[in-house]
Amino acid sequence: MTQLALIVGTTMGGAEAVADELAEKLQTQGIDAEIHLSPELETLKQTPNWLVVTSTHGAGELPDNLQPLAKSLECVDLSSIRYAICGIGDSSYDTFCGAAKTVEELLQQNGATELVNKIEIDVQSLELPEDKALLWIDQLIPILNP
Ligand SMILES: Cc1cc2nc3c(=O)[nH]c(=O)nc-3n(C[C@H](O)[C@H](O)[C@H](O)COP(=O)(O)O)c2cc1C
Repeated sequence: MTQLALIVGTTMGGAEAVADELAEKLQTQGIDAEIHLSPELETLKQTPNWLVVTSTHGAGELPDNLQPLAKSLECVDLSSIRYAICGIGDSSYDTFCGAAKTVEELLQQNGATELVNKIEIDVQSLELPEDKALLWIDQLIPILNP
C-alpha cells in the first residue's frame, strides 16, 4: 500500500475536517494516509509522500501546531520528499492562504518535489472546502498509484 503522511495545520478544526475526508477517500484508493496533527520531521522523513492541508491564522501565519515543524524544515535536505499542498483560507485577508505559501517555500527551498499544483481554497466561496479538496485530490491519486 502506498504510504502518505497527511500533515494538518489547524486552529479550530476546519482543516482537520477536510483532511479527515481526504484520508478516507485516499484509503478507498489504496493509499494509506496517516494524519499528523503534531508533525515531527524525524517521523515524517520515513514517508516520502507528504500532503499538507493547512489553514492560515494571525496575519498570514501558520497555525500553532505547524510552527515547530516549520522551524525544523528551515535547513534540511528534502530531496527524497514529494509533496502536495492544500491551503484553506479566507480571501477577505490580504494574506490569503499565507501559511500554505510558507510551507510551499520551505519545501521548494529544500529540494522537495511537487506532485500536483497547490490548491488554495477560499472559505468565502459557496462551495464546501471539502468538496473542492476532494475533487483536487483526484489528480494526486494516479500519481501516487501509477
Ligand atoms: C484570527 C484569524 C485570522 C485569520 N487570518 C487569516 C489569514 O491571514 N489568511 C487567510 O487566508 N485566512 C485567515 N483566516 C481564516 C482561516 O484560515 C479560516 O477560517 C480557516 O477555515 C480556519 O481553519 P481551521 O479551523 O483549520 O483553523 C483567519 C481566521 C481567524 C479566525
